Amino acid sequence: MLVTFEGIEAAGKSTLIAALAARLRNRGDVVLVTREPGGTPLGDSLRELFVDPALRIAPIAEVMLLNASRAQLVADVIAPALKDRAVVLCDRFFDATVAYQGFGRGLDIESLLEICLTATQRIAPDLTFLVDIPVEVSRARLQARGGTDRLEREDTAFHTRVREGYHALAERFENRFVILDGTVSPDLLVTAAFEAFERRRNGPLP
Ligand code: TMP
Repeated sequence: MLVTFEGIEAAGKSTLIAALAARLRNRGDVVLVTREPGGTPLGDSLRELFVDPALRIAPIAEVMLLNASRAQLVADVIAPALKDRAVVLCDRFFDATVAYQGFGRGLDIESLLEICLTATQRIAPDLTFLVDIPVEVSRARLQARGGTDRLEREDTAFHTRVREGYHALAERFENRFVILDGTVSPDLLVTAAFEAFERRRNGPLP
């Protein structure tokens, strides 16, 4: 089962993924945690380039970098793990390209979906958590955390478009998206995610 985690910057995805992975492993699931861009030696190298604030990268070049990382991750890690019936928790997947490069940068959504599905061998998530926070909360958390990478430096209008993009995706793919409130405590967040995971595993989402 492929479970992906999406949201704007500093939504709390990483903390949630670690907590959910621990909970699933505790009761005996085989869980693999990975992320995008990254998750393979090639992907990790591409990630360094992608987030480097010193580089100027054209929007379509961003798409190609991200999908090179994605194609390698699916081929080497995700497809084999799914074959072994593991639960794969992936920090971002192709919805991020639609939200950031599509809604954020203005590239054509349908073309992006086709490029992404080619990169993933047409593998799509079974369940996608949108960890949702207001853009102002994201900005405040980033400031408190310090250090900003290339996309974190984009302005509020960009991040507002990305958030709206995620909501549009959640509506379009409502059979796999679950929106979680990222402003609640980490404990409440992981409980909500666990319950949605159990529902999805036992059948389609309501
Ligand atoms: P992360 O550190 O939140 O995991 O993500 C790294 C950055 O990459 C983040 O700013 C979002 C961006 N990104 C895209 O713009 N498009 C994508 O397809 C992915 C996977 C990430």
